[in-house]
Parts: sequence; C-alpha cells; structure tokens
Amino acid sequence: MQIVNTISQLQNILLQSKNEGKKVGLVPTMGALHDGHASLVRRSVTDNDVTVVSIFLNPTQFNDPKDLERYPRTLDCDCKILAQCGAQIVFAPSVAEMYPTPDTRSFSYPPTDTVMEGARRPGHFNGVCQIVSKLFQIVNPDRAYFGEKDFQQIAVIRRMVADLGFSVDIVPCPVVREESGLAMSSRNTLLSADEKAIAPNIFRILKESKTLGMSLKDTESWVVSQINAIDGLDVEYYSIVDGKTLAELQEWTDSDDIVGCITVYCGKTPIRLIDHIRYK
Ligand code: PAF
Repeated sequence: MQIVNTISQLQNILLQSKNEGKKVGLVPTMGALHDGHASLVRRSVTDNDVTVVSIFLNPTQFNDPKDLERYPRTLDCDCKILAQCGAQIVFAPSVAEMYPTPDTRSFSYPPTDTVMEGARRPGHFNGVCQIVSKLFQIVNPDRAYFGEKDFQQIAVIRRMVADLGFSVDIVPCPVVREESGLAMSSRNTLLSADEKAIAPNIFRILKESKTLGMSLKDTESWVVSQINAIDGLDVEYYSIVDGKTLAELQEWTDSDDIVGCITVYCGKTPIRLIDHIRYK
C-alpha cells in the first residue's frame, strides 16, 4: 500500500493504472476509520483494480470549530486497517495541499441540502461538495463509495454529480452497526460507557416505529417522544422524507421511497448521533 500526501504523487501513480485500463475506486474518508469504512474499502477492492482511500479532515464542512477540534485523528491506526482491507493507495493531503487558496465555490441543491442537516449545519453540505468535487477532479474515479449512514450526504452528492457531469458511479453501502444496533460512527469513540449504553435505543425505537400502523405524522411524533423519554437522549429532529429528493412527506401514500432521518444529542458533552430507517 502506498501512502501519498500530494496531488502530483497521486496523479503520477494513477496515470499508469489508467493507461493500463484499470478501474479505479475512491473511498473518501475523514479518518478515524471503523468497520463501516472497512466495508466500503472491501467493496471497492472487490469492484475495482485500484482502490484509493482519501483521509482528509475537511475543515470547510465543519460549521462548529469545537466539533472539528475534537474529531478523532488516528492516521497510523487507519493505515493499518486500510492495508488489511487491501487498499492500494492512501491519499492523506494537508489542508494547504487541498486548499492552496480559500475555496469560494458554492453549491446549492435544494431541497437535498436545505432540509434536516442542511438547515441545522449551515455550510456543511457546501463544504462536502467542495471537497468531494475536488477529489473527483483529482482522482477521476470510475466508482466512489459512501456509507448510507450519511443518508442525506449521498442525496446531495448525487445531485452534484448530475449537475457537474462527473462520470463516476456513486455506490451507496449499507450502514454497519455495532452488536447493540448503534450505527458505527467515528464519533462513537467520544461516547462514555453510560452514553454507549443508551445510544442503541435510537435504532431500537426507529425499528419499532415500523410496526405501529400510525399515520406518518403521528409516527414522527411517537419516535420523538419515545426517544426524548430516555434520560440522556434529546432529539434534534426526526423527519420522514422522500428517499431521493429528501422533501418532507405528509402521508405514507406521498411516495414509494420513504425514509425516516434522525439526529439525537447523546449525553452531557453532548455527542450528535445520526441514523435513519427505511419505511418503504
Ligand atoms: O462522510 C464523510 O466522512 C465526509 O463527509 C466525506 C465524504 C469524506 C467528505 O469529507
């Protein structure tokens, strides 16, 4: 496995692979890798001749400086995981390498980037589009792999790919969960033992909400009240939306692709956890 820090090193290596007609898979990450990331890398290794994993803690997508500051940084451990998964190239650039001048581009894909996370984290998806578009331009991958845990992010990236005409297949990969049901996330390492014990209630309650037979709006309210009743959990939003446009729905009959998306604050710090469930 080669570890490179500059765009020119990366492109020199990739030029040869592309000249040989090899398929290139890209797995963009911000490091602090866990089994969820490993599943994306393994999938890319199976699908492609060359897998590039980028590790870059992208400052432009953090609207809260404290969140960026406490984000775990574990490069050595990440590289060990990636070698075990069979990745060929790790691209770990500096901020100056990726942003030699401030990125002033703005992206706008409503409603995918204006609802839910988009409404609560101003600038977040703009930063995601800035970095992912740069990575697509630098790597020019045949396929790019994203975890469905960040369900809204995939919808925004799909819109960006269509808008800018990137010829890359976006491959969404299923959420990987801990045995408790908690969706794997780099932020889980920040949870105390007590917080880790209550966090799995989020997915438990989401699953139970599929069995209720209530109206869509009553189901939303039920999920919020059940989770808020648990000491240490505080729902920021629960929205049942169209799985493609992410537009809010009123009735179960409004779409045949329906997903419930949730963000919950857990514990005293608090740690912001996101998850989702598919209704149909
Ligand atoms: O999902 C993430 O980890 C990040 O948003 C991504 C796609 C790597 C862009 O920084």
